[in-house]
Amino acid sequence: MAELYVDQSRCQGHARCYMLAPETFMIDDEGYGFVREGREGSYDEENVRKAIRNCPERAIKIRGE
Ligand code: F3S
Repeated sequence: MAELYVDQSRCQGHARCYMLAPETFMIDDEGYGFVREGREGSYDEENVRKAIRNCPERAIKIRGE
């Protein structure tokens, strides 16, 4: 099954993921994005697609697609 995730080795804390799809992404205490628990399967939603396109580091990825 495909799974949405933020590649922590690439994320630089731009927070566009959180701004574009706050229902799916969160920002941790150090400012890095992550996928909220239970939202890993939300990769095909429009807001999530926008976040993927707008992350300057290309850090938002889909595993297993
Ligand atoms: Fe990181 Fe990209 Fe979001 S750099 S905080 S995953 S917009």
